[in-house]
Amino acid sequence: MIIDLRSDTLTKPTQGMLKAMWAAEIGDDVFGEDPTVNALEQKLAEMFGMEAGLFCPSGTMTNQIAIRLHTGLQTEVICHKYSHIYLYEGGGIMSNSHASVKLLDGAYGKISPQDILDSINPDDVHAPETTLVSLENTMNKGGGSIYTLEEIRPIKAICEQHGLKLHLDGARIFNALVESGESPKDWGAMFDTISICLSKGLGCPVGSVLLGTKADIKRARKVRKAFGGGMRQGGFLAAAAIYALDHHIERLKEDHARARKLGGMLDQHSLVAEVFPVMTNIVIAKLSGITPAEMLEKLNAQDIKAVKFGKDQIRFVTHLDFDDEMLERFGERLKDIE
Ligand SMILES: Cc1ncc(COP(=O)(O)O)c(C=O)c1O
Repeated sequence: MIIDLRSDTLTKPTQGMLKAMWAAEIGDDVFGEDPTVNALEQKLAEMFGMEAGLFCPSGTMTNQIAIRLHTGLQTEVICHKYSHIYLYEGGGIMSNSHASVKLLDGAYGKISPQDILDSINPDDVHAPETTLVSLENTMNKGGGSIYTLEEIRPIKAICEQHGLKLHLDGARIFNALVESGESPKDWGAMFDTISICLSKGLGCPVGSVLLGTKADIKRARKVRKAFGGGMRQGGFLAAAAIYALDHHIERLKEDHARARKLGGMLDQHSLVAEVFPVMTNIVIAKLSGITPAEMLEKLNAQDIKAVKFGKDQIRFVTHLDFDDEMLERFGERLKDIE
Protein backbone atom coordinates (compact mmCIF):
# COMPACT_ATOMS: atom_id res chain seq x y z
CA MET A 1 0.00 0.00 0.00
CA ILE A 2 1.50 3.31 -1.12
CA ILE A 3 0.83 6.15 1.28
CA ASP A 4 0.91 9.28 -0.83
CA LEU A 5 0.97 12.45 1.26
CA ARG A 6 2.60 14.77 -1.27
CA SER A 7 -0.53 16.87 -1.68
CA ASP A 8 -4.29 17.01 -1.18
CA THR A 9 -4.57 17.53 -4.95
CA LEU A 10 -3.87 13.83 -5.58
CA THR A 11 -7.33 12.55 -4.67
CA LYS A 12 -9.54 10.69 -7.12
CA PRO A 13 -13.30 11.36 -7.35
CA THR A 14 -15.46 9.20 -5.08
CA GLN A 15 -18.24 7.02 -6.51
CA GLY A 16 -20.82 9.59 -5.38
CA MET A 17 -18.91 12.38 -7.08
CA LEU A 18 -18.55 10.39 -10.31
CA LYS A 19 -22.28 9.70 -10.29
CA ALA A 20 -23.00 13.41 -9.91
CA MET A 21 -20.60 14.22 -12.77
CA TRP A 22 -22.18 11.60 -15.01
CA ALA A 23 -25.63 13.05 -14.38
CA ALA A 24 -24.61 16.69 -14.94
CA GLU A 25 -26.71 18.91 -17.15
CA ILE A 26 -24.27 20.67 -19.44
CA GLY A 27 -23.97 23.45 -22.01
CA ASP A 28 -21.29 25.72 -23.46
CA ASP A 29 -19.97 27.83 -20.61
CA VAL A 30 -18.15 30.31 -22.86
CA PHE A 31 -21.64 31.20 -24.10
CA GLY A 32 -22.70 31.33 -20.42
CA GLU A 33 -25.02 28.40 -21.12
CA ASP A 34 -23.77 25.64 -18.84
CA PRO A 35 -26.47 25.39 -16.14
CA THR A 36 -24.26 23.40 -13.76
CA VAL A 37 -21.36 25.86 -13.98
CA ASN A 38 -23.82 28.71 -13.43
CA ALA A 39 -25.28 26.88 -10.42
CA LEU A 40 -21.83 26.31 -8.92
CA GLU A 41 -20.83 29.95 -9.33
CA GLN A 42 -24.08 31.08 -7.76
CA LYS A 43 -23.88 28.54 -4.92
CA LEU A 44 -20.42 29.65 -3.82
CA ALA A 45 -21.24 33.35 -4.25
CA GLU A 46 -24.29 32.91 -2.03
CA MET A 47 -22.35 30.92 0.56
CA PHE A 48 -19.85 33.77 0.92
CA GLY A 49 -22.43 36.54 0.53
CA MET A 50 -20.62 37.85 -2.55
CA GLU A 51 -22.22 39.03 -5.77
CA ALA A 52 -20.82 36.65 -8.37
CA GLY A 53 -18.43 33.81 -9.14
CA LEU A 54 -16.32 32.53 -12.02
CA PHE A 55 -15.33 28.90 -12.51
CA CYS A 56 -11.74 28.46 -13.70
CA PRO A 57 -9.44 25.51 -14.34
CA SER A 58 -7.04 26.21 -11.47
CA GLY A 59 -6.29 28.17 -8.31
CA THR A 60 -3.35 29.72 -10.05
CA MET A 61 -5.71 31.13 -12.66
CA THR A 62 -8.23 32.51 -10.16
CA ASN A 63 -5.42 34.18 -8.19
CA GLN A 64 -3.78 35.56 -11.30
CA ILE A 65 -7.06 36.91 -12.65
CA ALA A 66 -7.70 38.64 -9.31
CA ILE A 67 -4.23 40.18 -9.38
CA ARG A 68 -4.86 41.38 -12.93
CA LEU A 69 -8.11 43.01 -11.80
CA HIS A 70 -6.51 44.87 -8.92
CA THR A 71 -3.12 45.89 -10.34
CA GLY A 72 -1.44 47.10 -13.51
CA LEU A 73 1.66 48.86 -14.79
CA GLN A 74 3.65 50.62 -12.06
CA THR A 75 1.57 49.18 -9.23
CA GLU A 76 2.55 46.91 -6.34
CA VAL A 77 1.09 43.95 -4.45
CA ILE A 78 1.80 43.39 -0.75
CA CYS A 79 2.00 39.72 0.31
CA HIS A 80 3.94 37.32 2.52
CA LYS A 81 7.30 36.15 1.20
CA TYR A 82 6.03 32.56 1.34
CA SER A 83 2.73 33.22 -0.43
CA HIS A 84 1.68 30.92 -3.24
CA ILE A 85 0.98 33.85 -5.60
CA TYR A 86 4.64 34.84 -5.35
CA LEU A 87 6.51 31.54 -4.96
CA TYR A 88 4.54 29.04 -6.99
CA GLU A 89 2.66 30.77 -9.80
CA GLY A 90 5.43 30.96 -12.37
CA GLY A 91 6.19 34.64 -11.87
CA GLY A 92 2.65 35.43 -13.00
CA ILE A 93 2.41 38.67 -11.00
CA MET A 94 5.03 40.12 -13.30
CA SER A 95 4.25 38.31 -16.55
CA ASN A 96 0.44 38.55 -16.38
CA SER A 97 -0.01 41.89 -14.62
CA HIS A 98 3.35 43.69 -14.89
CA ALA A 99 3.10 44.53 -11.20
CA SER A 100 5.82 44.80 -8.57
CA VAL A 101 5.67 42.87 -5.28
CA LYS A 102 6.48 43.88 -1.69
CA LEU A 103 7.27 40.77 0.32
CA LEU A 104 6.64 40.74 4.07
CA ASP A 105 7.84 38.34 6.73
CA GLY A 106 5.83 36.92 9.62
CA ALA A 107 5.53 33.73 11.64
CA TYR A 108 3.80 30.79 9.95
CA GLY A 109 3.24 32.71 6.74
CA LYS A 110 1.02 35.41 8.23
CA ILE A 111 1.51 39.17 7.91
CA SER A 112 0.61 41.81 10.49
CA PRO A 113 -1.52 44.93 10.02
CA GLN A 114 1.37 47.14 11.17
CA ASP A 115 3.78 45.62 8.63
CA ILE A 116 1.20 46.14 5.89
CA LEU A 117 0.70 49.75 6.94
CA ASP A 118 4.45 50.36 6.96
CA SER A 119 4.74 48.86 3.46
CA ILE A 120 2.26 51.04 1.63
CA ASN A 121 4.26 53.18 -0.74
CA PRO A 122 4.03 56.96 -0.41
CA ASP A 123 2.48 58.95 -3.23
CA ASP A 124 5.88 59.59 -4.73
CA VAL A 125 7.22 59.64 -8.28
CA HIS A 126 9.87 57.04 -7.38
CA ALA A 127 7.55 54.35 -6.04
CA PRO A 128 5.08 51.98 -7.65
CA GLU A 129 1.55 52.60 -6.43
CA THR A 130 0.43 50.06 -3.82
CA THR A 131 -2.98 48.81 -4.95
CA LEU A 132 -3.42 45.32 -3.51
CA VAL A 133 -2.89 43.26 -0.37
CA SER A 134 -3.12 39.51 -0.87
CA LEU A 135 -3.51 37.03 2.00
CA GLU A 136 -3.58 33.21 2.03
CA ASN A 137 -5.83 31.11 4.30
CA THR A 138 -4.90 28.46 5.15
CA MET A 139 -1.27 29.29 4.56
CA ASN A 140 0.39 26.45 2.69
CA LYS A 141 4.02 27.24 3.38
CA GLY A 142 3.15 28.35 6.91
CA GLY A 143 2.15 24.74 7.66
CA GLY A 144 -1.59 25.09 7.01
CA SER A 145 -1.83 27.96 9.49
CA ILE A 146 -5.07 29.87 9.95
CA TYR A 147 -5.90 33.57 10.01
CA THR A 148 -8.89 34.37 12.22
CA LEU A 149 -11.46 37.00 11.31
CA GLU A 150 -10.18 39.11 14.21
CA GLU A 151 -6.78 39.20 12.51
CA ILE A 152 -8.33 40.18 9.18
CA ARG A 153 -10.50 43.06 10.45
CA PRO A 154 -7.62 45.53 11.08
CA ILE A 155 -6.08 44.59 7.72
CA LYS A 156 -9.40 45.28 6.02
CA ALA A 157 -9.61 48.65 7.81
CA ILE A 158 -6.13 49.61 6.57
CA CYS A 159 -7.05 48.64 3.01
CA GLU A 160 -10.20 50.76 3.19
CA GLN A 161 -8.36 53.76 4.62
CA HIS A 162 -5.71 53.59 1.89
CA GLY A 163 -7.89 52.62 -1.05
CA LEU A 164 -6.27 49.19 -1.45
CA LYS A 165 -8.00 46.06 -2.70
CA LEU A 166 -7.87 42.96 -0.52
CA HIS A 167 -7.64 39.51 -2.14
CA LEU A 168 -7.78 36.12 -0.43
CA ASP A 169 -6.06 33.07 -1.82
CA GLY A 170 -8.56 30.75 -0.18
CA ALA A 171 -7.31 27.60 -1.88
CA ARG A 172 -7.97 25.87 1.46
CA ILE A 173 -10.46 28.30 3.02
CA PHE A 174 -12.83 25.50 4.04
CA ASN A 175 -10.01 23.83 6.00
CA ALA A 176 -9.75 27.09 7.96
CA LEU A 177 -13.50 27.55 8.40
CA VAL A 178 -14.24 24.05 9.70
CA GLU A 179 -11.57 24.58 12.37
CA SER A 180 -12.50 28.13 13.40
CA GLY A 181 -16.26 27.69 13.08
CA GLU A 182 -16.38 31.12 11.38
CA SER A 183 -18.96 31.72 8.68
CA PRO A 184 -18.16 32.03 4.96
CA LYS A 185 -20.36 35.15 4.82
CA ASP A 186 -18.24 36.94 7.44
CA TRP A 187 -15.18 36.13 5.34
CA GLY A 188 -16.89 37.24 2.16
CA ALA A 189 -17.54 40.63 3.74
CA MET A 190 -13.80 41.19 4.27
CA PHE A 191 -12.45 40.74 0.75
CA ASP A 192 -12.83 42.24 -2.70
CA THR A 193 -12.05 38.88 -4.29
CA ILE A 194 -11.68 35.34 -2.97
CA SER A 195 -10.17 32.38 -4.81
CA ILE A 196 -11.47 28.97 -3.68
CA CYS A 197 -10.04 25.63 -4.83
CA LEU A 198 -12.27 22.61 -5.29
CA SER A 199 -9.45 20.28 -6.27
CA LYS A 200 -7.63 20.21 -2.92
CA GLY A 201 -9.24 19.12 0.36
CA LEU A 202 -12.67 19.03 -1.26
CA GLY A 203 -11.54 16.22 -3.54
CA CYS A 204 -12.60 17.40 -7.02
CA PRO A 205 -10.55 16.50 -10.07
CA VAL A 206 -10.27 20.09 -11.39
CA GLY A 207 -11.39 23.60 -10.65
CA SER A 208 -11.40 26.81 -8.65
CA VAL A 209 -13.89 29.64 -8.33
CA LEU A 210 -13.15 33.35 -8.10
CA LEU A 211 -15.70 35.39 -6.12
CA GLY A 212 -16.19 39.14 -6.28
CA THR A 213 -18.56 41.93 -7.28
CA LYS A 214 -20.65 41.55 -10.44
CA ALA A 215 -18.53 44.21 -12.13
CA ASP A 216 -15.24 42.51 -11.18
CA ILE A 217 -16.44 39.08 -12.28
CA LYS A 218 -17.60 40.51 -15.61
CA ARG A 219 -14.06 41.80 -16.16
CA ALA A 220 -12.62 38.55 -14.80
CA ARG A 221 -14.56 36.58 -17.41
CA LYS A 222 -12.77 38.52 -20.11
CA VAL A 223 -9.37 38.00 -18.47
CA ARG A 224 -10.11 34.27 -18.14
CA LYS A 225 -10.77 34.16 -21.88
CA ALA A 226 -7.46 35.86 -22.60
CA PHE A 227 -5.66 33.43 -20.26
CA GLY A 228 -7.19 30.54 -22.23
CA GLY A 229 -9.32 29.40 -19.31
CA GLY A 230 -12.75 29.49 -20.93
CA MET A 231 -14.09 25.94 -20.67
CA ARG A 232 -16.93 24.57 -22.77
CA GLN A 233 -18.95 21.72 -21.16
CA GLY A 234 -17.43 22.54 -17.78
CA GLY A 235 -20.59 21.31 -16.11
CA PHE A 236 -19.12 17.85 -15.60
CA LEU A 237 -16.46 19.43 -13.41
CA ALA A 238 -18.86 21.86 -11.79
CA ALA A 239 -21.10 18.93 -10.82
CA ALA A 240 -18.17 17.41 -8.94
CA ALA A 241 -17.68 20.73 -7.17
CA ILE A 242 -21.33 21.03 -6.15
CA TYR A 243 -21.21 17.46 -4.85
CA ALA A 244 -18.06 18.30 -2.86
CA LEU A 245 -19.62 21.41 -1.34
CA ASP A 246 -22.58 19.30 -0.21
CA HIS A 247 -20.61 16.30 1.07
CA HIS A 248 -16.94 17.03 1.68
CA ILE A 249 -16.70 20.14 3.84
CA GLU A 250 -17.40 18.81 7.33
CA ARG A 251 -15.20 15.75 6.75
CA LEU A 252 -12.15 18.01 6.44
CA LYS A 253 -12.02 17.79 10.24
CA GLU A 254 -11.08 14.11 9.83
CA ASP A 255 -8.10 15.12 7.69
CA HIS A 256 -7.07 17.57 10.39
CA ALA A 257 -7.35 14.99 13.16
CA ARG A 258 -5.19 12.56 11.16
CA ALA A 259 -2.69 15.32 10.41
CA ARG A 260 -2.35 16.06 14.13
CA LYS A 261 -1.69 12.39 14.87
CA LEU A 262 0.78 12.17 12.00
CA GLY A 263 2.53 15.30 13.32
CA GLY A 264 2.77 13.66 16.74
CA MET A 265 4.38 10.55 15.22
CA LEU A 266 6.91 12.62 13.30
CA ASP A 267 7.69 14.73 16.34
CA GLN A 268 8.95 11.66 18.20
CA HIS A 269 11.28 10.61 15.41
CA SER A 270 15.02 11.02 15.96
CA LEU A 271 15.54 12.54 12.48
CA VAL A 272 12.94 15.25 13.07
CA ALA A 273 14.03 18.38 14.92
CA GLU A 274 10.64 20.04 15.01
CA VAL A 275 7.12 19.82 13.63
CA PHE A 276 5.27 23.06 12.87
CA PRO A 277 2.04 23.40 14.91
CA VAL A 278 -0.53 21.34 13.02
CA MET A 279 -3.64 23.46 12.56
CA THR A 280 -5.26 21.86 9.53
CA ASN A 281 -4.20 19.19 6.99
CA ILE A 282 -0.60 20.23 6.36
CA VAL A 283 2.31 18.88 8.40
CA ILE A 284 5.77 20.38 8.01
CA ALA A 285 8.68 18.58 9.63
CA LYS A 286 12.05 20.22 10.08
CA LEU A 287 14.76 17.57 9.80
CA SER A 288 17.82 17.00 11.92
CA GLY A 289 21.03 15.33 10.68
CA ILE A 290 19.54 14.33 7.31
CA THR A 291 18.72 16.22 4.11
CA PRO A 292 15.19 16.30 2.69
CA ALA A 293 16.38 14.27 -0.32
CA GLU A 294 17.83 11.56 1.94
CA MET A 295 14.74 11.48 4.14
CA LEU A 296 12.41 11.30 1.13
CA GLU A 297 14.44 8.38 -0.17
CA LYS A 298 14.05 6.53 3.13
CA LEU A 299 10.33 7.27 3.14
CA ASN A 300 10.02 6.14 -0.47
CA ALA A 301 11.66 2.85 0.42
CA GLN A 302 8.76 2.41 2.87
CA ASP A 303 6.20 3.36 0.19
CA ILE A 304 5.55 6.73 1.80
CA LYS A 305 5.58 9.84 -0.35
CA ALA A 306 6.10 13.41 0.83
CA VAL A 307 7.73 16.52 -0.69
CA LYS A 308 10.74 18.72 0.05
CA PHE A 309 9.55 22.00 1.48
CA GLY A 310 12.53 24.27 2.05
CA LYS A 311 16.18 23.46 2.60
CA ASP A 312 15.70 21.34 5.73
CA GLN A 313 11.96 20.65 5.70
CA ILE A 314 9.54 18.13 4.23
CA ARG A 315 5.76 18.40 3.90
CA PHE A 316 2.97 15.88 4.34
CA VAL A 317 -0.66 16.68 3.43
CA THR A 318 -3.61 14.57 4.60
CA HIS A 319 -6.63 14.19 2.33
CA LEU A 320 -9.74 12.30 1.29
CA ASP A 321 -7.79 9.24 0.14
CA PHE A 322 -5.79 8.88 3.37
CA ASP A 323 -7.64 6.88 6.00
CA ASP A 324 -7.09 5.55 9.54
CA GLU A 325 -5.56 2.31 8.31
CA MET A 326 -2.99 4.25 6.28
CA LEU A 327 -2.24 6.41 9.29
CA GLU A 328 -1.57 3.33 11.38
CA ARG A 329 0.69 1.89 8.67
CA PHE A 330 2.45 5.24 8.44
CA GLY A 331 3.29 5.04 12.14
CA GLU A 332 4.59 1.47 11.82
CA ARG A 333 6.73 2.23 8.78
CA LEU A 334 8.13 5.40 10.32
CA LYS A 335 9.50 3.33 13.20
CA ASP A 336 11.53 1.33 10.65
CA ILE A 337 13.33 4.45 9.44
CA GLU A 338 16.62 5.21 11.12
C1 LIG B 1 -2.31 28.13 -1.31
C2 LIG B 1 -2.46 27.76 -2.74
N1 LIG B 1 -2.95 28.65 -3.60
C3 LIG B 1 -3.11 28.37 -4.90
C4 LIG B 1 -2.78 27.14 -5.40
C5 LIG B 1 -2.92 26.90 -6.88
O1 LIG B 1 -3.80 25.94 -7.22
P1 LIG B 1 -3.67 25.14 -8.62
O2 LIG B 1 -2.72 24.05 -8.38
O3 LIG B 1 -5.08 24.69 -8.85
O4 LIG B 1 -3.21 26.11 -9.64
C6 LIG B 1 -2.25 26.16 -4.54
C7 LIG B 1 -1.89 24.83 -5.08
O5 LIG B 1 -1.35 23.98 -4.42
C8 LIG B 1 -2.08 26.49 -3.17
O6 LIG B 1 -1.57 25.60 -2.31
